[in-house]
Amino acid sequence: MAIVDEAWGFSEHLQPPALAEFALRLYTAGSLAGSRFAAVTAGEHGVDALLFGRAGSGERFRTEFSGPSGRLRTLRTLLTLRGLAIGDKLGWIRDITRHESRRARIQPIGHGEVTLFAAAKAARGKGYGRRLMDAYVDHCRGLGIDRVTLETDVESSYGFYDHYGFSVVGEFVSPMNQRFSGGSGRSFVYELHL
Ligand SMILES: CC(C)(COP(=O)(O)OP(=O)(O)OC[C@H]1O[C@@H](n2cnc3c(N)ncnc32)[C@H](O)[C@@H]1OP(=O)(O)O)[C@@H](O)C(=O)NCCC(=O)NCCS
Repeated sequence: MAIVDEAWGFSEHLQPPALAEFALRLYTAGSLAGSRFAAVTAGEHGVDALLFGRAGSGERFRTEFSGPSGRLRTLRTLLTLRGLAIGDKLGWIRDITRHESRRARIQPIGHGEVTLFAAAKAARGKGYGRRLMDAYVDHCRGLGIDRVTLETDVESSYGFYDHYGFSVVGEFVSPMNQRFSGGSGRSFVYELHL
C-alpha cells in the first residue's frame, strides 16, 4: 500500500484521511481480489515493485474485498465513513459506476488483465517493472490467453506501455479519475497481442 500511495497519492488527493486510507486499501487489496496472478520483486528494503493481474480461470486471491460480501462491505464502509458528506459519498458511487460502464463500452475486462502495477519511486528505472510484465505475459501465454489488456490514465506512467509494445484500443473520460486527481480524467485501455 505504501508503493501504491507513493505512485498515485491517495493521502494527498483524498480527504478526510479515513477516505484516503479506505480507498488505498480498496485499490490495493481490491485489485488483488480480482486477480489470479501476483508477483513482486524484492530487495533488502522489502518489496520494490508489484504486478497483479487476471489470468485464466483458477483460484482468485481472497481479501476483505472478495466476492459479493466484499462488495457489500465496500458499500457499507463508504456509506458509514465519518467526515464525508452524503452527497460526496453518493458522488463517488455514481462516478465509479460511470467509470466502469464507459470502460466496458470500449472493451469488456479480459481474461488477461493487469489490475495493479507499480514500482517504488526509488526502485524505478532498474528493470523491475519490465521483469514483472515479462513474467505476467509469459504466464498468460502459457495459459493460452491471446491478449493482455489494462486500463490506465493520463496521471499514470502510461508511457511504459507504449514502450513495451502495447497499443491503445480506446480512450474515455473517467469521472472517477477526475474526482480523484482534479485533472482531465483522460483514461486509456491498452492491449498487447501475445
Ligand atoms: C510503470 C512502472 C511500474 C515502471 O516500472 P519500472 O521498474 O520503473 O520500469 P523499468 O525500469 O522496468 O522500465 C522498462 C523499460 O520501460 C521504459 N519506461 C519505464 N517507464 C516509462 C515511462 N513512463 N515512459 C516511457 N518508457 C518507460 C524504461 O526506460 C525501460 O526501457 P528499456 O527496457 O528499453 O531500457 C513505474 O514507472 C511506476 O510505478 N509508475 C507509477 C505507477 C504507474 O503509473 N503504474 C502503471 C500505470 S497503471
